[in-house]
Amino acid sequence: MDDIIYLDHAATTPVDPGVLEAMVPYFSERYGNPSSIYHLGQESRAAIDRARVAAARVLSCDVSEIVFTSGATESDNLALRGTAWAARLRPSANDAAPHIVTTAIEHHAVLHTAHALERQGFAATYIVPDSRGIIDPDAIASAVRDDTCLISVMYANNESGAIQPIQEIAAIARNRGIPVHTDAVQAAGSLPLLVDELGVDLLSLSAHKFYGPKGVGLLYVRRGALIDFQQAGGGQEQGRRGGTEDVPGIVGQGVALEQADSWREAYTEHCRGLRDRLYAGLLSAIPDATVNGPLDSSQRLPNNVNISIPGVQGETLLLSLDVLGIAASAGSACTTGNTEPSHVLRAMGLSDEACRSSLRFTVGRSNTEEQIDATIDAVVESVGRVRALTTSHAS
Ligand SMILES: Cc1ncc(COP(=O)(O)O)c(C=O)c1O
Repeated sequence: MDDIIYLDHAATTPVDPGVLEAMVPYFSERYGNPSSIYHLGQESRAAIDRARVAAARVLSCDVSEIVFTSGATESDNLALRGTAWAARLRPSANDAAPHIVTTAIEHHAVLHTAHALERQGFAATYIVPDSRGIIDPDAIASAVRDDTCLISVMYANNESGAIQPIQEIAAIARNRGIPVHTDAVQAAGSLPLLVDELGVDLLSLSAHKFYGPKGVGLLYVRRGALIDFQQAGGGQEQGRRGGTEDVPGIVGQGVALEQADSWREAYTEHCRGLRDRLYAGLLSAIPDATVNGPLDSSQRLPNNVNISIPGVQGETLLLSLDVLGIAASAGSACTTGNTEPSHVLRAMGLSDEACRSSLRFTVGRSNTEEQIDATIDAVVESVGRVRALTTSHAS
C-alpha cells in the first residue's frame, strides 16, 4: 500500500513516527498500572501526567480540566449527557427535563446523543446552517430558552470544512449563563484550541485525527462546569472516568497534540496550497462541478475539498479511484455503507442528487503536488468513464 495517494485525513491520519516511538515503551517494558503504588506503576502515572500537562499547554487550561477518554465519540457523549443530567438532577430543577441547542450538521457522535436524550425526555433544537454550511449565531440566540442547559456547536465540520463562529456563539451563551460545548475534532492541527479565547466550557478531541493513535481522546471540562460523569469505576481521572487508562494511547495523544500545535502554521500553509491546487484542477477540467462549503478560505479548513459532480455517484467514483490507488471519501467515513445522502450536505440545502454525487478529499502532511496532479487526472478520467457508461446505458 506504499504507493497509495491518501486523501482522507478527515477520516483518520497515520500515527506520526515520533508519536509511535514515544508510545512503544508503554506497551512493553513500562507496562505498570498507573494506579499501582510501586515504581513501575508510578512510571505510567508520570507519563499520563506529562501528557496532561502537554494537552493543558495546547488548550491553555489547567491540568485538572483535562479528562482523557476513548475518543471524541465518548467525549461528545459525556459533554451532552453529563451536562443534561447534571441540570436535570440539580436540587433546584423542576420536573421538566432541560433543553439543548445544537446544530443539524454535527457529527453523529453529537446528533445521535441528542436524539437519545430526547428519548429520555430532554428537549433539543437543531439549528440549520446557511448554504455554505455556516451556523448563524443569531439563530442560536433565538433558539435559547429559559430551560436551555447546553449549547453544542462543532468548531469545524468534517464534511464541508466550514469553520463555525464559535467565539460569537460562546459570547451569546455567556450572556445567558449557558455552558458551551464544541466538538473540535477536525480543528485540531489547523485552528487554535485556546479554550479561553474560544470561550467554551467543554471541548472534544480525538487523537487519531491529528497523527495520534485511534481509541484515545479527551474532553476539556472548564472548572466549575456542572457535569454528571457517566463512567463509574475505579476512580481514575479523579473519579470522572473510571477504567484503567490507555497509557500508550494517552502518551501518544500528548506528543501528537504538541506536534500538531507547533506545526500548525506550516501545516496550514502546506495544506492550503494543495487544496487550492486540487480545486483549481478539478473545477477547470470538470466545469459543471460545484463546490460544497464556504468559498472563502478563512471560513474553511485548509485541508478540505468537497465537490459535487453532476451525473456521477460519489460512491462509484470512489471505487474507481480506489482501483487507481487513491483514497478519498463520499461523505463521513463513519457512515460508509450507509447509502443515505449526507445529513450535512442536505442541511445545507443540497438536493439528494447533489449529495450523492459529492466527493470529499482531505489532504495532509505527506501529500505532494505530484499526488494532487495525479489525483486530478484520475478523477477526470474516472468521471469521463462513468459519464460515458451512463450515456451508453441511456441510449
Ligand atoms: C467532527 C467529528 N466528531 C467526532 C468524531 C468521532 O471521533 P471518534 O470516532 O474518534 O470517536 C469524528 C470522527 O470522524 C468527527 O469527525
